[in-house]
Amino acid sequence: MSIAELGERFNIVRLSREIVRNAFARDVDQGLSTNPKYLPCIYFYDEKGSLLFEDICKLPEYYLTRAESEILKDRSDEIASFFPEQPAIVELGSGSSIKTRYLLEAFLRRHGQACYTPIDISHEILRESSFDLLNTYPGLEITAVAATYEEGLKQIGRLNGQQKLVLWLGSSIGNFVPDEAELFMRHLRDTLQPSDSLLIGIDLQKEKTILERAYDDSRGITAAFNLNLLGRINRELEADFDLKKFEHLAFYNEQKKRVEIYIRSKIRQVVHIGQLDVTVTFDAGEKIHTEFSHKYSLEDIGKLARKTGFIHKEQWFDSKNWFSLNLFVAE
Ligand code: AVI
Repeated sequence: MSIAELGERFNIVRLSREIVRNAFARDVDQGLSTNPKYLPCIYFYDEKGSLLFEDICKLPEYYLTRAESEILKDRSDEIASFFPEQPAIVELGSGSSIKTRYLLEAFLRRHGQACYTPIDISHEILRESSFDLLNTYPGLEITAVAATYEEGLKQIGRLNGQQKLVLWLGSSIGNFVPDEAELFMRHLRDTLQPSDSLLIGIDLQKEKTILERAYDDSRGITAAFNLNLLGRINRELEADFDLKKFEHLAFYNEQKKRVEIYIRSKIRQVVHIGQLDVTVTFDAGEKIHTEFSHKYSLEDIGKLARKTGFIHKEQWFDSKNWFSLNLFVAE
Protein backbone atom coordinates (compact mmCIF):
# COMPACT_ATOMS: atom_id res chain seq x y z
CA MET A 1 0.00 0.00 0.00
CA SER A 2 1.33 3.50 -0.85
CA ILE A 3 2.30 6.01 1.83
CA ALA A 4 -0.52 8.31 0.56
CA GLU A 5 -3.11 5.57 1.10
CA LEU A 6 -1.71 4.70 4.52
CA GLY A 7 -1.63 8.43 5.30
CA GLU A 8 -5.41 8.56 5.45
CA ARG A 9 -5.27 6.22 8.43
CA PHE A 10 -2.13 7.73 9.98
CA ASN A 11 -1.35 10.82 12.00
CA ILE A 12 1.81 11.67 13.92
CA VAL A 13 2.21 14.21 16.71
CA ARG A 14 5.82 15.02 17.46
CA LEU A 15 7.44 16.79 20.40
CA SER A 16 9.88 19.32 18.97
CA ARG A 17 13.46 18.07 18.49
CA GLU A 18 14.67 21.27 20.14
CA ILE A 19 12.77 20.53 23.38
CA VAL A 20 14.16 16.96 23.50
CA ARG A 21 17.75 18.12 22.83
CA ASN A 22 17.60 20.86 25.48
CA ALA A 23 16.20 18.48 28.10
CA PHE A 24 18.97 15.95 27.31
CA ALA A 25 21.72 18.60 27.66
CA ARG A 26 20.23 19.87 30.93
CA ASP A 27 19.86 16.39 32.45
CA VAL A 28 23.36 15.26 31.42
CA ASP A 29 24.84 18.44 32.88
CA GLN A 30 22.95 17.96 36.14
CA GLY A 31 23.50 14.19 36.44
CA LEU A 32 27.25 14.27 35.84
CA SER A 33 27.93 17.23 38.14
CA THR A 34 26.27 15.57 41.15
CA ASN A 35 27.76 13.05 43.57
CA PRO A 36 26.91 10.17 43.08
CA LYS A 37 26.63 10.64 39.31
CA TYR A 38 23.51 9.52 37.44
CA LEU A 39 21.92 9.62 33.97
CA PRO A 40 18.13 9.15 33.56
CA CYS A 41 17.22 5.87 31.84
CA ILE A 42 14.77 7.59 29.44
CA TYR A 43 17.83 8.64 27.42
CA PHE A 44 18.70 5.01 26.54
CA TYR A 45 16.23 5.20 23.67
CA ASP A 46 17.79 7.14 20.82
CA GLU A 47 17.63 5.33 17.47
CA LYS A 48 20.64 3.11 18.26
CA GLY A 49 19.47 2.43 21.83
CA SER A 50 15.97 1.50 20.67
CA LEU A 51 17.45 -1.04 18.23
CA LEU A 52 19.69 -2.46 20.97
CA PHE A 53 16.63 -2.76 23.21
CA GLU A 54 14.89 -4.76 20.45
CA ASP A 55 17.91 -7.09 20.52
CA ILE A 56 17.70 -7.37 24.33
CA CYS A 57 14.06 -8.48 23.98
CA LYS A 58 15.19 -11.43 21.82
CA LEU A 59 17.94 -12.59 24.20
CA PRO A 60 17.51 -16.02 25.80
CA GLU A 61 18.37 -14.52 29.21
CA TYR A 62 15.86 -11.63 28.97
CA TYR A 63 12.73 -13.62 29.81
CA LEU A 64 10.43 -10.60 30.31
CA THR A 65 9.38 -10.08 26.68
CA ARG A 66 8.85 -13.78 26.01
CA ALA A 67 6.79 -14.24 29.16
CA GLU A 68 4.58 -11.25 28.43
CA SER A 69 4.16 -12.29 24.77
CA GLU A 70 3.09 -15.77 25.91
CA ILE A 71 0.36 -14.23 28.10
CA LEU A 72 -0.80 -11.87 25.36
CA LYS A 73 -0.83 -14.66 22.76
CA ASP A 74 -2.94 -16.92 24.99
CA ARG A 75 -5.18 -14.32 26.63
CA SER A 76 -5.83 -11.49 24.19
CA ASP A 77 -9.30 -12.73 23.23
CA GLU A 78 -10.22 -13.02 26.90
CA ILE A 79 -8.84 -9.51 27.56
CA ALA A 80 -10.82 -8.09 24.60
CA SER A 81 -13.97 -9.73 25.97
CA PHE A 82 -13.87 -7.30 28.91
CA PHE A 83 -14.74 -4.55 26.38
CA PRO A 84 -18.20 -4.97 24.81
CA GLU A 85 -17.62 -1.67 22.95
CA GLN A 86 -14.41 -0.87 21.12
CA PRO A 87 -12.18 1.27 23.41
CA ALA A 88 -9.60 3.79 22.16
CA ILE A 89 -6.34 1.85 22.65
CA VAL A 90 -3.39 3.92 23.86
CA GLU A 91 0.06 2.47 24.51
CA LEU A 92 2.73 4.11 26.66
CA GLY A 93 6.27 3.28 25.47
CA SER A 94 5.05 1.27 22.48
CA GLY A 95 8.50 0.62 20.89
CA SER A 96 8.11 -1.84 18.02
CA SER A 97 4.51 -2.74 19.09
CA ILE A 98 5.27 -6.41 18.35
CA LYS A 99 3.55 -7.89 21.44
CA THR A 100 0.67 -5.45 21.00
CA ARG A 101 -0.26 -7.18 17.73
CA TYR A 102 -1.91 -10.03 19.66
CA LEU A 103 -4.23 -7.54 21.36
CA LEU A 104 -4.91 -5.47 18.25
CA GLU A 105 -5.81 -8.68 16.39
CA ALA A 106 -8.19 -9.72 19.17
CA PHE A 107 -9.96 -6.33 19.08
CA LEU A 108 -10.07 -6.36 15.27
CA ARG A 109 -11.63 -9.86 15.36
CA ARG A 110 -14.36 -8.60 17.72
CA HIS A 111 -15.07 -5.17 16.27
CA GLY A 112 -13.61 -5.12 12.73
CA GLN A 113 -11.82 -1.81 13.33
CA ALA A 114 -9.65 -0.21 16.01
CA CYS A 115 -8.05 3.15 16.86
CA TYR A 116 -4.56 2.87 18.28
CA THR A 117 -2.43 5.67 19.80
CA PRO A 118 1.16 4.46 20.34
CA ILE A 119 3.28 6.85 22.42
CA ASP A 120 7.06 6.51 22.29
CA ILE A 121 10.09 8.72 22.75
CA SER A 122 11.69 7.40 19.53
CA HIS A 123 10.15 9.05 16.46
CA GLU A 124 11.93 6.68 14.03
CA ILE A 125 10.72 3.45 15.68
CA LEU A 126 7.21 4.90 15.99
CA ARG A 127 6.96 5.75 12.29
CA GLU A 128 8.36 2.42 11.15
CA SER A 129 6.20 0.29 13.44
CA SER A 130 3.06 2.32 12.60
CA PHE A 131 3.54 1.73 8.85
CA ASP A 132 4.08 -2.00 9.44
CA LEU A 133 0.86 -2.19 11.46
CA LEU A 134 -1.18 -0.19 8.93
CA ASN A 135 0.07 -2.42 6.12
CA THR A 136 -0.95 -5.54 8.02
CA TYR A 137 -4.34 -4.42 9.41
CA PRO A 138 -6.70 -2.55 7.03
CA GLY A 139 -9.17 -1.93 9.91
CA LEU A 140 -6.62 0.00 11.96
CA GLU A 141 -6.26 3.78 12.38
CA ILE A 142 -3.20 5.19 14.13
CA THR A 143 -2.41 8.50 15.81
CA ALA A 144 1.22 8.13 16.87
CA VAL A 145 2.72 10.44 19.50
CA ALA A 146 6.50 10.91 19.68
CA ALA A 147 6.87 12.17 23.23
CA THR A 148 7.82 11.47 26.84
CA TYR A 149 5.37 9.76 29.20
CA GLU A 150 4.39 13.12 30.69
CA GLU A 151 3.55 14.56 27.27
CA GLY A 152 1.83 11.28 26.44
CA LEU A 153 -0.49 11.66 29.42
CA LYS A 154 -1.66 15.01 28.05
CA GLN A 155 -2.50 13.25 24.80
CA ILE A 156 -4.53 10.64 26.73
CA GLY A 157 -6.43 13.48 28.41
CA ARG A 158 -7.41 14.77 24.95
CA LEU A 159 -9.21 11.49 24.18
CA ASN A 160 -11.91 12.17 26.78
CA GLY A 161 -15.40 11.17 25.75
CA GLN A 162 -14.29 7.74 24.49
CA GLN A 163 -13.74 4.71 26.68
CA LYS A 164 -10.00 4.14 26.92
CA LEU A 165 -7.74 1.15 27.34
CA VAL A 166 -4.20 2.21 28.21
CA LEU A 167 -1.46 -0.38 27.70
CA TRP A 168 1.72 -0.08 29.72
CA LEU A 169 3.62 -3.24 28.92
CA GLY A 170 7.11 -4.61 29.48
CA SER A 171 7.29 -3.82 33.22
CA SER A 172 8.38 -0.26 32.46
CA ILE A 173 6.83 0.71 35.80
CA GLY A 174 9.80 -1.14 37.33
CA ASN A 175 12.10 1.64 36.11
CA PHE A 176 10.48 4.06 38.57
CA VAL A 177 11.35 4.01 42.28
CA PRO A 178 8.19 3.06 44.27
CA ASP A 179 7.24 6.66 45.22
CA GLU A 180 7.61 7.86 41.62
CA ALA A 181 5.68 4.83 40.37
CA GLU A 182 2.80 5.68 42.67
CA LEU A 183 2.88 9.34 41.68
CA PHE A 184 2.89 8.51 37.99
CA MET A 185 0.05 5.99 38.40
CA ARG A 186 -2.02 8.64 40.23
CA HIS A 187 -1.28 11.11 37.48
CA LEU A 188 -2.31 8.52 34.89
CA ARG A 189 -5.47 7.77 36.87
CA ASP A 190 -6.31 11.49 36.85
CA THR A 191 -6.21 11.56 33.04
CA LEU A 192 -8.72 8.67 32.92
CA GLN A 193 -12.44 8.51 33.63
CA PRO A 194 -14.21 5.90 35.78
CA SER A 195 -14.36 2.53 33.97
CA ASP A 196 -11.39 3.34 31.68
CA SER A 197 -8.79 0.58 31.97
CA LEU A 198 -5.06 0.07 32.27
CA LEU A 199 -3.42 -3.17 31.15
CA ILE A 200 -0.06 -3.20 32.89
CA GLY A 201 2.77 -5.75 32.61
CA ILE A 202 4.72 -6.14 35.85
CA ASP A 203 7.77 -8.35 36.40
CA LEU A 204 7.79 -10.45 39.57
CA GLN A 205 10.41 -11.08 42.26
CA LYS A 206 12.49 -14.16 41.60
CA GLU A 207 15.90 -15.77 42.10
CA LYS A 208 18.88 -13.44 42.00
CA THR A 209 20.80 -15.51 39.41
CA ILE A 210 17.93 -15.41 36.89
CA LEU A 211 17.62 -11.63 37.29
CA GLU A 212 21.34 -10.92 37.09
CA ARG A 213 21.66 -12.99 33.90
CA ALA A 214 18.72 -11.11 32.36
CA TYR A 215 20.49 -7.77 32.90
CA ASP A 216 24.06 -8.86 32.11
CA ASP A 217 23.75 -11.20 29.15
CA SER A 218 26.58 -13.35 27.79
CA ARG A 219 26.61 -11.60 24.38
CA GLY A 220 27.12 -8.17 25.95
CA ILE A 221 24.02 -6.62 24.33
CA THR A 222 22.79 -5.12 27.63
CA ALA A 223 26.30 -3.75 28.23
CA ALA A 224 26.24 -2.10 24.76
CA PHE A 225 22.74 -0.72 25.47
CA ASN A 226 23.92 0.82 28.74
CA LEU A 227 27.19 2.23 27.33
CA ASN A 228 25.30 3.68 24.35
CA LEU A 229 24.26 6.44 26.76
CA LEU A 230 27.86 7.68 26.70
CA GLY A 231 27.93 7.22 22.91
CA ARG A 232 24.80 9.37 22.68
CA ILE A 233 26.46 12.12 24.75
CA ASN A 234 29.44 11.94 22.35
CA ARG A 235 27.18 12.21 19.28
CA GLU A 236 24.73 14.83 20.49
CA LEU A 237 26.77 16.93 22.89
CA GLU A 238 30.25 16.64 21.34
CA ALA A 239 31.81 14.75 24.25
CA ASP A 240 34.94 12.57 24.13
CA PHE A 241 33.94 9.52 26.23
CA ASP A 242 36.13 6.53 25.31
CA LEU A 243 33.60 3.70 25.76
CA LYS A 244 36.39 1.11 26.18
CA LYS A 245 37.39 2.82 29.41
CA PHE A 246 33.96 2.21 30.99
CA GLU A 247 32.09 -0.99 31.85
CA HIS A 248 28.55 -2.21 32.46
CA LEU A 249 27.57 -3.26 35.99
CA ALA A 250 24.25 -4.89 36.97
CA PHE A 251 23.29 -6.64 40.21
CA TYR A 252 20.16 -7.53 42.16
CA ASN A 253 19.68 -5.64 45.43
CA GLU A 254 17.72 -8.24 47.45
CA GLN A 255 16.73 -5.75 50.11
CA LYS A 256 15.28 -3.18 47.71
CA LYS A 257 13.99 -5.87 45.32
CA ARG A 258 15.51 -4.22 42.28
CA VAL A 259 18.18 -4.73 39.66
CA GLU A 260 20.59 -1.80 39.82
CA ILE A 261 22.45 -0.78 36.68
CA TYR A 262 25.53 1.41 36.49
CA ILE A 263 28.31 2.45 34.13
CA ARG A 264 31.66 2.11 35.93
CA SER A 265 34.86 3.94 35.04
CA LYS A 266 37.73 1.45 34.71
CA ILE A 267 40.39 4.09 35.44
CA ARG A 268 40.75 7.64 36.74
CA GLN A 269 39.98 9.84 33.74
CA VAL A 270 38.75 13.21 32.55
CA VAL A 271 36.05 13.69 29.90
CA HIS A 272 35.14 16.90 28.10
CA ILE A 273 31.58 17.65 26.96
CA GLY A 274 31.99 20.23 24.18
CA GLN A 275 28.47 21.60 23.91
CA LEU A 276 28.17 22.06 27.66
CA ASP A 277 31.73 23.35 27.96
CA VAL A 278 32.09 21.07 30.97
CA THR A 279 34.91 18.80 32.14
CA VAL A 280 33.96 15.73 34.19
CA THR A 281 36.44 13.79 36.31
CA PHE A 282 35.94 10.09 37.11
CA ASP A 283 37.82 8.17 39.79
CA ALA A 284 38.86 4.59 39.06
CA GLY A 285 35.81 2.46 39.93
CA GLU A 286 33.45 5.45 40.12
CA LYS A 287 29.90 4.62 39.02
CA ILE A 288 27.22 6.48 37.07
CA HIS A 289 23.78 5.20 38.03
CA THR A 290 21.70 4.64 34.89
CA GLU A 291 18.70 2.47 35.81
CA PHE A 292 16.71 0.59 38.45
CA SER A 293 14.43 -2.27 37.48
CA HIS A 294 12.12 -3.01 40.43
CA LYS A 295 10.57 -6.44 40.84
CA TYR A 296 7.13 -6.73 42.45
CA SER A 297 5.38 -9.21 44.73
CA LEU A 298 1.69 -10.03 44.13
CA GLU A 299 0.88 -8.09 47.29
CA ASP A 300 2.75 -5.01 46.00
CA ILE A 301 0.65 -5.07 42.81
CA GLY A 302 -2.67 -5.22 44.69
CA LYS A 303 -1.56 -2.35 46.93
CA LEU A 304 -0.42 -0.26 43.97
CA ALA A 305 -3.87 -0.55 42.37
CA ARG A 306 -5.70 0.34 45.59
CA LYS A 307 -3.45 3.28 46.45
CA THR A 308 -3.71 4.87 43.01
CA GLY A 309 -7.47 4.75 42.38
CA PHE A 310 -7.82 1.49 40.45
CA ILE A 311 -9.66 -1.81 40.99
CA HIS A 312 -7.40 -4.81 40.31
CA LYS A 313 -9.86 -6.58 38.06
CA GLU A 314 -7.87 -9.50 36.65
CA GLN A 315 -4.36 -10.94 36.61
CA TRP A 316 -2.66 -13.38 34.22
CA PHE A 317 0.70 -15.17 34.39
CA ASP A 318 3.06 -16.93 31.99
CA SER A 319 3.63 -20.69 32.39
CA LYS A 320 6.62 -20.17 34.73
CA ASN A 321 4.78 -17.59 36.87
CA TRP A 322 7.65 -15.17 36.32
CA PHE A 323 5.67 -12.25 34.90
CA SER A 324 2.20 -10.79 35.44
CA LEU A 325 -0.23 -8.95 33.20
CA ASN A 326 -2.82 -6.96 35.16
CA LEU A 327 -6.11 -5.36 34.24
CA PHE A 328 -6.73 -2.31 36.41
CA VAL A 329 -10.04 -0.45 36.08
CA ALA A 330 -10.29 3.22 37.13
CA GLU A 331 -12.63 3.62 40.13
C1 AVI B 1 12.22 -0.95 29.59
N1 AVI B 1 12.52 -1.65 30.85
C2 AVI B 1 11.32 -2.25 31.40
C3 AVI B 1 13.65 -2.59 30.76
C4 AVI B 1 13.80 -3.34 32.11
O1 AVI B 1 13.79 -4.57 32.08
O2 AVI B 1 13.89 -2.69 33.15
C5 AVI B 1 14.92 -1.86 30.39
C6 AVI B 1 16.15 -2.72 30.39
N2 AVI B 1 17.31 -2.39 30.90
C7 AVI B 1 18.18 -3.36 30.71
N3 AVI B 1 17.59 -4.36 30.10
C8 AVI B 1 16.30 -3.98 29.87
